[in-house]
Amino acid sequence: MGKHILIVGGGGREHALARCLDERSTVERITCAPGNAGTSGLSSCHNIALSKTADIVEWAKQNHPDLVLVGPEIPLAQGIADELQDAGIKVFGPALKSAQLESSKAFAKEFMERHGVATAASRRFDSSDKARQECGCFGYPVVVKADGLAAGKGVIICANEKEAHQAIDEVMVERRFGDAGSVVVLEECLVGWETSLIAVVDSTGHHMAFPYAQDHKRAGEGDLGLNTGGMGVIAPHPLVTQAVAKDIEQNILQPTLKGLVADGLAYPGFLFIGVMVTSQGAKTLEYNVRFGDPEAQALLPLFDGDFLSLLEASLEGTLSQIQPQWTGGASCCVVLASEGYPEKSAPSRPLSGIQNAEKTGAWVYGAGLGRNEKNELVSQGGRVLGVTGIAENLEAAREKAYEGIKQIDLEGGWFRRDIGVASLHNASR
Ligand code: AMP
Ligand code: GLY
Repeated sequence: MGKHILIVGGGGREHALARCLDERSTVERITCAPGNAGTSGLSSCHNIALSKTADIVEWAKQNHPDLVLVGPEIPLAQGIADELQDAGIKVFGPALKSAQLESSKAFAKEFMERHGVATAASRRFDSSDKARQECGCFGYPVVVKADGLAAGKGVIICANEKEAHQAIDEVMVERRFGDAGSVVVLEECLVGWETSLIAVVDSTGHHMAFPYAQDHKRAGEGDLGLNTGGMGVIAPHPLVTQAVAKDIEQNILQPTLKGLVADGLAYPGFLFIGVMVTSQGAKTLEYNVRFGDPEAQALLPLFDGDFLSLLEASLEGTLSQIQPQWTGGASCCVVLASEGYPEKSAPSRPLSGIQNAEKTGAWVYGAGLGRNEKNELVSQGGRVLGVTGIAENLEAAREKAYEGIKQIDLEGGWFRRDIGVASLHNASR
C-alpha cells in the first residue's frame, strides 16, 4: 500500500522535497502544512492551511501519516519531533536535544570543541559588560553572534572595538533578535570561501552526502549588500577539489558524526554544515539540522534514487547500506525575489510565465507563491520562487536557469544575474 507523507513547511525547500517524493518514490499521498502554490500543483500533493507546530501535531495525531518530514528549523527547535514520536508517529528530523546544534550557537561551538571539529576560536558570554570588556580577545575584525535562531541575521562582522560594542548592545541589550540574544558568541573572523555540505544522517552515525553546494547569501551582485535567506545555489561546488573534500571529511564531517553518536545526539534527518575554506584548512561555520533553502532546490533534482527509501533507511539506521544515485552533471538555482526584499515585504502581485519557464526545461519551485480569490497565481513577498537548471555542466545549467527565469513576469521581481559566475571563473584559472 502506498504511503502518506506529511511535509512541514511552505518554502522552496518543501516544494523540492515534495517533488522529489512525488517523482522519485512510490508515495500515495503527500500533505503539506502549509505548503505553497507550487506544492499544491503536484499530482499527489495537497496543502492544509496549518503553520503552528501545535496545530500540525494535532492534525498528525488525528490523521496518522506514515511519516512526517520536517523542513524548517523553527518547528524542530520547538520540539515537533519529540511530540510526534511520543504520539507514535515516525518523524524524519531531530528531537529537541539535537536541534540545539542549530538553535544554540554556544551549544554547537561547545560540541565542536569537545569533539575536535575544525572551527574558528570562540568564547561565549551571558553578560554584555563582560562581552564588551573582552571583545578584542581575537583581534579585529571579530564576529559577534546571537546565540539563538535569528533567520540568518544574527551574525555581525565588526571591524573595530566601536562596532563590536554596538553589535553586543544591539544583540544583548536592545534584543534586536529577542531571546536569541540572551547569550552572545564572539568568534575569530575567518577569511576564505564558503561551501555547504548537506547529508542525510542516521542514529548510528552513518551518512549519505549530497554534492557540495555554493549558496549566494548577499542580495547584491558580486556578493555585496544585505544578507538574505539565499539568492541562488550552484552544485557541485567547482572549488571543492578532492583535497578540499578530504580535509572537510576528515576534520569536520567524521568528528561531527562520531561526536553525535558519543553524545547520544545522532538522529534521523538532514545535517547541513556551513564550511569556510581558509588558508589554514576548512573550518566549520555552523550546523543546521535541516536541508538548506535554496540548496534543496539545486541538490534534490540531482538525486536519482528512491527518495522515500533513503528517508526510511535513515529512520531504520541502515544508511550504510544505501548506494547513492545521482543524475550526474550540475545544477544552478536562481531565486526570484519580490520588490524590496530583504528590507521590505512587497504587496501580493500577479505572477505569470511558469509554464513557459518549464517549457525551456527548467524546474520551477514555488516559495512565496500563492493564489488569489480568483485562483490566479500571485507573489506573497520575500523569495517568490526558484528556477533550477540541470545540465551536463555548470555553464549549461546556468544558461538553462537564466533562460527559465526570464520567462517569469512579476512586477518589481528581481534576481541576481551572477549566480555561480565567480566560482566558475576561479575554478577555470
Ligand atoms: P552562520 O549563521 O554562523 O553560518 O553565519 C552566517 C554567515 O556569516 C556565514 O555564512 C559567513 O558568511 C559569516 N560568518 C559566520 N561566522 C564567521 C566567521 N567566524 N568568520 C567570518 N565569517 C563568518
Ligand atoms: N541557505 C542557507 C540556509 O538555508 O540556511
